[in-house]
Amino acid sequence: MNENYQFWSYTLMFLLQTHGLILFIKIFEVRGGGKKPWPQKGLGRARHGSIRSPLFKGGGVIHGPKSPTPHFYMLPFYNRVNGLIATLSVKLAQDDLHVVDSLEIPSGEKDYIEELVKSRLWGPSVLFVDSSDLMPRNITEATDTIKHVNLMPVYGLNVYSMLKHDTLVLTKSAVDVIEEKLLYHLHKNNAKPEKFKIDQV
Ligand SMILES: *[C@@H]1O[C@H](CO)[C@@H](O)[C@H](O)[C@H]1NC(C)=O
Repeated sequence: MNENYQFWSYTLMFLLQTHGLILFIKIFEVRGGGKKPWPQKGLGRARHGSIRSPLFKGGGVIHGPKSPTPHFYMLPFYNRVNGLIATLSVKLAQDDLHVVDSLEIPSGEKDYIEELVKSRLWGPSVLFVDSSDLMPRNITEATDTIKHVNLMPVYGLNVYSMLKHDTLVLTKSAVDVIEEKLLYHLHKNNAKPEKFKIDQV
């Protein structure tokens, strides 16, 4: 019983710490302790500068875990560009990449888009990609309740989403944007592994 409890409390503590949920307080974060608790000399007591020193109960903790620790990891930018190119190439080679003029459809009915996907032999799951995130109303309505047919603006395009769908349907303008961006990143002068920068997201 007792051991079990210890195990769980230890595990819980460990999990909380590793996920940055526990905050230990450093000396400069503890309130109070500004005044020297007693004079340096003359009382026969040990010298102390602050009652919030780590040596005191209620004082700060040295080298305690700090919160929050971000466990967010992003692939280096160059790898992401390569990943996109490789995945697009695979889709193309497998005949799973199609280009359409636009995403305008004459009906907002769910059945219409399902029939369309079936008759073109796309799918079963399809990802429609347009250059802007303002998709035509009809296709938005039609695909709203279909889990395996999804819409995505070009800037959201990623390897994971492409692999999750059998078929990728790009509008012409989406293709233009992809081409322009990928070619730009492939051929710019410093096209080499770089450290991830926040403004590249
Ligand atoms: C959208 O669908 C409606 C019928 O549901 C149709 O009347 C309308 O023309 C469609 N809009 C476009 C832009 O095709």
